[in-house]
Amino acid sequence: MHRHILTTPDGSSYPILTGAGLLDICGTELAAVMKPCRAVIVSDEHVAPLYMAQVKKSLADAGFSVSEFVVPAGEESKSVATLGSVLEAFCEAHLTRTDIAVALGGGVIGDLTGFAAGCYLRGIRFVQLPTTLLAAVDASVGGKTAVNLEHGKNLAGLFHQPSAVICDINTLKTLSEHEIQDGSAEAVKHGILDDPALFEIYESGVPTEKFEEIIVRSVIYKSRIVTEDPNEKGVRKMLNLGHTPAHAIERLSDFGISHGHAVAIGTAMMTRAAVKRGILKNDAAARILNTLKRTGLPTVCPFGVSEMARIAALDKKAAASEITVILPETIGRCRMEKLPISALEALFTDGMEGQA
Ligand code: NAD
Ligand code: GLY
Repeated sequence: MHRHILTTPDGSSYPILTGAGLLDICGTELAAVMKPCRAVIVSDEHVAPLYMAQVKKSLADAGFSVSEFVVPAGEESKSVATLGSVLEAFCEAHLTRTDIAVALGGGVIGDLTGFAAGCYLRGIRFVQLPTTLLAAVDASVGGKTAVNLEHGKNLAGLFHQPSAVICDINTLKTLSEHEIQDGSAEAVKHGILDDPALFEIYESGVPTEKFEEIIVRSVIYKSRIVTEDPNEKGVRKMLNLGHTPAHAIERLSDFGISHGHAVAIGTAMMTRAAVKRGILKNDAAARILNTLKRTGLPTVCPFGVSEMARIAALDKKAAASEITVILPETIGRCRMEKLPISALEALFTDGMEGQA
């Protein structure tokens, strides 16, 4: 088992555990960081039949008083309506300020449960038990929680750090290839941002044999960024590489294109745009595009420039007239650029030029 501690600037910290078989011992691991209390485990209809019983037993054996709440699987559950149902479930379970919520699932369950925990009784603690590669390498770490609004992705949410993250890599065995690709997109993103060795696992290695290393490298990098900038005032924006186009793609496809696949297309677009703007060399761009393809990820945007720019602007206009985009400079280093929203169309045009 790999144990990493993420410390935030206010001095609080939490453990991030990665390894095989951790669901069986998650109760004792949690009891090491908190007094056993009431716990509501939130999960979805795909994950609960696979892992709920195991988690319930482990928590109950460690002295927690456990109940469960299961929501439909998929992005649709990141909604205000589902958030309301989770909050009502917390009430029914009589959760108090000293109790906990446990997110058992992928990024959807983590984001939803974290938001519910962050606003229930003005904030109770929560724990992440990520069961997708995407949640393990990215969503479970760093305390970003949210639901989607009609106007766009993640528009209601808060920063609320978990009390622990426990990732049992055995859960990845029941994921489909598509879901593995989703998580791989975020891991490749981390490689492009900071970690050439992580990138090379995807470029020329056998990633399916290296999930633990992929997760640990991602957790270490992401923890460093979150420690420096937990509320995304500066350097944390780097983690949004590819996300401005990705959010537009998700919405234009009515969430038919999953987050990770959309991030891959968005990363490919920022790669082409960086070459066009003289920031990234052609050979590094070719390595990025080939690695995304080798991972089974898409690199071509199926929507037109103007509809992409219109949706991305709608999404961002809710909060700002400017947008920060991330452009690769080389594999392992990216830069931030602030652009007016009106520049999105030109950026997306560059990002789609010559795509194949
Ligand atoms: P997801 O949670 O919808 O999971 C994908 C699918 O896999 C679902 O159908 C789920 O039921 C199923 N599943 C989960 N674990 C399984 C398992 N072990 N075996 C079999 N099936 C399993 O999607 P995701 O890709 O994990 O997360 C995407 C979400 O995460 C998006 O909403 C995205 O915005 C969010 N996200 C958040 C952050 C953050 O920092 N908070 C970062 C990245 C992404
Ligand atoms: N996934 C981006 C972040 O956590 O900041």
